[in-house]
This record gives sequence, C-alpha cells and structure tokens, in this order.
Amino acid sequence: MGRLSGKVAIITGAASGMGLAGAQLFASEGATVVLTDVAAEALSRETEAIVDAGGQATSVLLDVADAASWLNVLDHTLKAFGGVDVLVNNAGIQIAKGVLEAELDDWNKVLGVNTTGVWLGMKAVLPHFQQHGGGSIVNVSSIGGIIGGLADGGGAAYSASKGAVRSLTKHAAQWFAKDNVRVNSIHPGAVYTGMAAGLGYTKESISEQYATEIPLPPHVGDPIDIAYGMLYLASDESKYVTAAELVIDGGWSTH
Ligand SMILES: NC(=O)c1ccc[n+]([C@@H]2O[C@H](COP(=O)([O-])OP(=O)(O)OC[C@H]3O[C@@H](n4cnc5c(N)ncnc54)[C@H](O)[C@@H]3O)[C@@H](O)[C@H]2O)c1
Repeated sequence: MGRLSGKVAIITGAASGMGLAGAQLFASEGATVVLTDVAAEALSRETEAIVDAGGQATSVLLDVADAASWLNVLDHTLKAFGGVDVLVNNAGIQIAKGVLEAELDDWNKVLGVNTTGVWLGMKAVLPHFQQHGGGSIVNVSSIGGIIGGLADGGGAAYSASKGAVRSLTKHAAQWFAKDNVRVNSIHPGAVYTGMAAGLGYTKESISEQYATEIPLPPHVGDPIDIAYGMLYLASDESKYVTAAELVIDGGWSTH
C-alpha cells in the first residue's frame, strides 16, 4: 500500500521542478496523478515517463490564471477517474523587480499566476470536496510570503503574491474545515529548479551565495525535499493538520 493509494491528485506546474518531483513521488506512492502545466511538450514527456515507470498518470494543459481552463481540468479528471481528493497549487512565476522597477503588467502577471491561480484552483475543486466528504489542498507559497526581504529573490510582486497565498490558505482552512477539507501551505526557501536557473543561478552558486544565510548544508534544497512535504500534507497522515505553514528552507528564515 502506498501512502496515497486510492487518491486522485491534481498538481499544477507539474512539468518541471517541485511540481514534477511531487507528481513522480505521488505516483510512486499509489496516487493517480493529473499533471497540469502550460508547457505542453515537457508536460507530455514527463507524464509519459511516469506511466512508463509504472505510475498512474495523465496530463491536461492548464493556465492556472484562466478560469475556463480550470473547468476543463476538473471535467477531465471527474470523467476519467470519478473524483478528486488532492489539489496541489504549485505553479508559480517570478519577476525579479522591486517596487520601483516593476511595471503594472509585471505586477498583474505575477499576481495572476501566483495568487489568482491558487484561488481559481480552490474554487474549482472545493464544491466537489464538499459533496464527497472532503479533500486536501496544498498551496505552495514561499518563505518570501513570510519574511519577504531577500527571500523573494528581489521580486516585490512575488512577495506580495506569496503572502496572499499564505493568508488565503488560512481563510479557506477556516471556512471549509466543517466539510473535512484541509488547506495547508508549504514555504520553500532556496531550491534548485528551473525557476532558480531562470534567475541565472547554478546549484553551486546558490549554495555559495547563501552559505551564511542558510545554516543547513548544502545551503540549497532539491525539488524532492519539497515533494516530501506535499506528500505528507496530501496524505491521511496529516488528517488533523490544517492552516499549517510547512517551512522547508534549511533554516534560512531563522537567520
Ligand atoms: N525554486 C525556488 O527556490 C522556490 C522557492 C520558494 C517558492 N517557490 C515556488 O515553488 C513553486 C514551484 O516552483 P519551481 O521552482 O519548481 O519552478 P519551475 O519554474 O521549475 O516550475 C514551475 C512550473 O509552473 C509552470 N507554470 C508557469 N506559469 C503557469 C501557468 N500560468 N499555469 C500553469 N503552469 C504554469 C511552468 O511551466 C513550470 O513547469 C512556485 O510556486 C514557486 O513560486 C520556488
């Protein structure tokens, strides 16, 4: 028996980084995984690889900021698998511009994906969870949403978007607990993924740059470190956990 046997999980931003690590881990723990992303080619390739490795998985294209796109994902999932038990709102983007440098378009784009996308995802699955005895929602925020500062990679809108995810998580946890719906957030620190590579980092350069801020070696996380947090919060092992903030940052936020 896997830790997610019998569960159907939708994961956003599943074509790379933490979302992909989560999809691979969930499938290896017995879940049926619906991988979603805007990156069509990587999405098909990675889903096929999970199926080839013996996992149960399918993929649906999804722009998390688009409400109609969410209805399509839910429709596809319910038709294919008869239900959904877990939603991992993981998709996110970063624009490393401060308050003065960011343009309104930058701001709206980051808030659209990182915050509106999480709200739309919850709005799509919650009625189903309410009618079918509950479910688990895992929202990937950031330590930028708690401590801001350098932890947001220099993105003002990013910090704001992730802070909003933190408080939206608590709002939903409070309102839907009566329906046996759990809503928790994960707050990664520096993790080497496509997002970090896009900001010009290598794994070694992050490790060197943050050696004093992040006390725990190797001073940078791997996607699987976050995936294990997703797994715990998705599984029944966390059945009494809601509105929690799971910080996975090698101790950065204590600095
Ligand atoms: N990497 C870090 O150091 C770090 C730290 C803290 C928080 N986070 C958060 O973790 C989450 C995952 O990030 P990652 O580092 O794995 O990034 P990543 O860039 O490797 O993966 C993000 C995925 O989201 C997808 N995506 C982007 N816009 C989308 C949209 N509109 N709709 C659907 N999918 C979309 C991308 O195609 C990509 O596959 C994000 O929410 C990010 O903000 C990352």
